[in-house]
Amino acid sequence: MRLKTKLNLVTTVWLLFILILLNTTIYYLFIRITTETETDMLQRKGQEIAEKLTNGQVNGKTDNILASFLPESSIIRIVNLNRRVINEVTNDPSLRQIEPDFNVLREWELNSLQDYQVLTVRVPIQSNGHTVECIEISEKLIALAESVNTLLYALFMSSVAAILLSLVGGTLLSRFILRPISKMIHTMEGIQKSGVLKNIAIERKAQDELSIMAKTFNGMMDRLQDNFDKQQQFVSDASHELKTPLTIIESYANLLRRWGMKDEALQRESIDAIYSEAIRMKKMTQQLLDLASLEKENTLDIQQIDLLPFCEEVANPLRKVYKREIKLIYPDEPVVIWADEMKMNQVLLILLDNALKYSKGKIEIYVSKKKEWAFIKIKDYGIGIPKDELSIIFERFYRVDKARHRETGGSGLGLSIAKHIVSMHFGKIKLESEEGKGTEVTICLPIKNSSKGNSEL
Ligand SMILES: Nc1ncnc2c1ncn2[C@@H]1O[C@H](COP(=O)(O)OP(=O)(O)OP(=O)(O)O)[C@@H](O)[C@H]1O
Ligand SMILES: [Mg+2]
Repeated sequence: MRLKTKLNLVTTVWLLFILILLNTTIYYLFIRITTETETDMLQRKGQEIAEKLTNGQVNGKTDNILASFLPESSIIRIVNLNRRVINEVTNDPSLRQIEPDFNVLREWELNSLQDYQVLTVRVPIQSNGHTVECIEISEKLIALAESVNTLLYALFMSSVAAILLSLVGGTLLSRFILRPISKMIHTMEGIQKSGVLKNIAIERKAQDELSIMAKTFNGMMDRLQDNFDKQQQFVSDASHELKTPLTIIESYANLLRRWGMKDEALQRESIDAIYSEAIRMKKMTQQLLDLASLEKENTLDIQQIDLLPFCEEVANPLRKVYKREIKLIYPDEPVVIWADEMKMNQVLLILLDNALKYSKGKIEIYVSKKKEWAFIKIKDYGIGIPKDELSIIFERFYRVDKARHRETGGSGLGLSIAKHIVSMHFGKIKLESEEGKGTEVTICLPIKNSSKGNSEL
């Protein structure tokens, strides 16, 4: 069943239920109020008759007195203790079918006679403080029957009109509400068929649930598109970057095939080149895998790290291998953070590797802390980075001087991996550099575990 039909059906059934409840209440209330008014009136008449008869104010026949009080379509009877009718006047003989009763305790009662309701009231006539007779007035409620008919007709007509209006209103309302949903379904079907991500046009400025839903959908599509674009960019960048070493390997292999058998110098040069390109490719592949896994899973093996021994441990082997001065400058108090040790090690190695590659002099590592934040600054006095390139230095595969990397063997992935790891720890990385003078990279990390605040950088 369609949503529109469902909505219409539910509202109509609910309206029907309300109407039945309301109409029944109105019907019974009307009858009750009318009957009560009529009962009051008849009882007052009965009391007047009783007074006249007891006081003997009126001379003449009792029937005449009763006749003077006789309402339309009614019967007045005086009944004695033995339920015998002593006097009776009527202008509607059919009312004689109503059995007389002396039970004055039942002050009033309603009976059905033919198509009408007959209201009977009883008023006692007292003599010397005892009830001796009872005046019984029964009236056919003709006016009530007519009013009830009119009321039923009015209730029926208004109910039919209400249901019809509700059906029309429901159809219009569901069409109005469901239009944006139909549009969304249409767009989603389009996406499913073509595979092209599309946004839903949001017409209204209203902040209702449907426009929020459309906005959320659009946000989701944008994110998917963004991820899709990034993935495509990544694949094309990676294949482009891998193509260069492969071309070099291919050309040297070709050289070797043609002339290498005789030329020993060419053999050595080719093998060296092929070897270094293969190493570069291996490193780049590993970095690409690192990046892919970093983007995929965001899990960290968090533990306490004392930054001073940690930095010392990373720098020591580099000092020995590269025979370079790597100085550690640290405060008196220990600086302890909560982080993934393996990943932080990777970050430090990436930054030290850059400092080693792009400078010749000493390298300094500053460890410090301020409020809730720990800082590691790696400073070199090397070639530096041009100012206008600082903003894009963290992008994947970005290198300042494409020619420069051939000697240094970089692939432009180091800094983007470092940035990713630092942001996984809710930290920040900042690079300051001056061409020809040197570079300093500062990592800022929260000291507290799972801290998500903004860094001081
Ligand atoms: N300390 C530094 N001094 C001068 N230039 C630097 C420094 N660190 C980074 N750069 C520049 O930024 C570029 C990007 O650095 P990144 O570490 O991302 O890549 P890479 O060093 O070229 O290669 P790898 O992926 O092997 O690290 C480098 O190519 C280099 O031009
Ligand atoms: Mg690097």
